[in-house]
Amino acid sequence: MAQHDGHLGAVYGASAPEQVAAAYDAWAETYDAEMARNGYRHPAIGLALMARHLPRGAAPILDAGVGTGLTGSWFGLLGWPEVEGIDISEGMLAMAARKGAYARLTRAVLGETLPFADGQFAAVISTGVFTTGHVGAEALPELMRITRPGGVLVLTVKETLWQGGFAQALAAEPADLLEQTVPYVSMPGDPATTPSLALALRRR
Ligand SMILES: C[S@@+](CC[C@H](N)C(=O)[O-])C[C@H]1O[C@@H](n2cnc3c(N)ncnc32)[C@H](O)[C@@H]1O
Repeated sequence: MAQHDGHLGAVYGASAPEQVAAAYDAWAETYDAEMARNGYRHPAIGLALMARHLPRGAAPILDAGVGTGLTGSWFGLLGWPEVEGIDISEGMLAMAARKGAYARLTRAVLGETLPFADGQFAAVISTGVFTTGHVGAEALPELMRITRPGGVLVLTVKETLWQGGFAQALAAEPADLLEQTVPYVSMPGDPATTPSLALALRRR
């Protein structure tokens, strides 16, 4: 199987959260250009699912693992007035801030306790985060806690993670599956990219 090289190799190969943060800090300046070259699809697919299930005007929304803001920075244009972001990488947060689209950007670690109240968000979106070397099902309970009942969660999940226990862990969480895409390759321009799927969930 083809191997990831460069920044992609570093982020997929990380074995601890501080390594993930350092790898993304080093990548932040050139991330958008590289993802564009690779035809990166998760943000468009996540936004499409969100638009099908979350009414215009719902607020606030959390972009979890916001990165440089390729996903949540479109929300204002689509009629959702307040979006905030969290990420483990200060470098990525700084790039997201440049988009000028986020009400707040906070350093926080998925998988640990998040600095938000129960039911604080009308919706949570997370694209490209539940993947190799990043975040697993251990982050789900906190995302459920901070989403209000009736709220929407949109997640992309690497298929290997999905089959390796994520689907089972998700079934135990207080959310109903609204829809699930067929597997797709998130970066068609990168031959080493394996399939992911995207999910829309309604918090019970
Ligand atoms: C592939 S990027 C995706 C960024 C953005 N959502 C997008 O689709 O372009 C993964 C992001 O997740 C962040 N990340 C990885 N592990 C994390 C964790 N445990 N907590 C918070 N953010 C994390 C990385 O810093 C990076 O910005």
